[in-house]
Amino acid sequence: MKQKSSIVWIVVVVVLAVVLLATWGLAAKTSTDNFCVTCHAYEKVSWDHGQHPDIGCIACHSKGIIKDKTAGMRKVYLTLTDQVDPHRDNLPSYLEKTHENCVACHMTEEIVEMLPHFKARHDEYLKATPTCMGCHDAGHTLKLKDLRKEGSRLRI
Ligand code: HEC
Ligand code: HEC
Ligand code: HEC
Ligand code: HEC
Repeated sequence: MKQKSSIVWIVVVVVLAVVLLATWGLAAKTSTDNFCVTCHAYEKVSWDHGQHPDIGCIACHSKGIIKDKTAGMRKVYLTLTDQVDPHRDNLPSYLEKTHENCVACHMTEEIVEMLPHFKARHDEYLKATPTCMGCHDAGHTLKLKDLRKEGSRLRI
């Protein structure tokens, strides 16, 4: 009897380990630029021509892993059920979250210490416009954004 229950425990632990590893693997796979590009080919091109072609999508667009993955599942659902076509439809944008990620890289304690004037000037700039994107065309070049055709999707 005792032996049986320890076998059950071993099985439970092995199954849990496999599930955890699979979840971890899937989370890593769905965080790569290549995965994002399957649905956001246009953004890939405008990113290639932007100021940050060597910074990954997630570095600017993360809202934290839990939110990313739950929002991601919703997005896969919207795409598969054809409610949104990410290649053609206009997508919503969340400037505040992107802004927080800009600040996390560009206004670190180190930078503030090294470049106090940069920080002081930017404190003034940010009084005039609430986000970095008010002045910097960072991430994606807007020249390409302007070329994008709106409403070209054929709905059947
Ligand atoms: C299965 C297709 C699909 C994949 C893969 C995908 N997205 Fe999206 N994405 C969408 C859809 C659909 C929307 C629009 C969601 C809506 O209308 O609410 C969207 C919206 C967005 C937006 C704008 C709205 C927001 O949430 O900020 C950003 C930024 C974005 N995706 C970034 C990414 C990144 C980064 C990745 C890779 C980690 C990624 N996407 C992977 C389908 C996808
Ligand atoms: C240096 C930061 C940065 C990087 C790196 C970046 N983006 Fe963006 N992205 C932005 C900014 C800024 C916007 C416009 C404001 C917003 O919606 O948050 C934006 C907007 C978007 C949107 C909203 C729809 C649109 O066209 O405005 C999507 C989708 C998106 N990016 C996907 C991606 C994908 C996919 C990658 C990687 C191939 C990527 N981004 C890399 C900064 C970045
Ligand atoms: C993962 C870190 C990271 C994130 C997130 C990030 N950047 Fe950058 N950014 C960099 C690096 C690294 C460079 C190149 C540094 C250099 O060459 O001086 C750069 C370059 C720039 C430049 C050009 C600087 C120059 O010397 O020409 C601007 C402007 C800029 N970023 C603004 C932004 C804005 C706005 C956002 C948010 C949409 C953002 N960055 C998000 C790391 C980041
Ligand atoms: C009101 C406009 C404005 C806003 C908002 C703004 N910037 Fe700037 N930014 C500038 C100007 C002008 C310069 C060049 C002069 C300077 O360094 O002050 C600059 C320079 C920079 C540089 C250095 C680029 C270089 O060529 O050396 C980086 C990086 C940068 N900004 C990032 C950011 C980030 C990140 C944010 C958001 C937290 C932001 N900026 C918000 C106007 C702005």
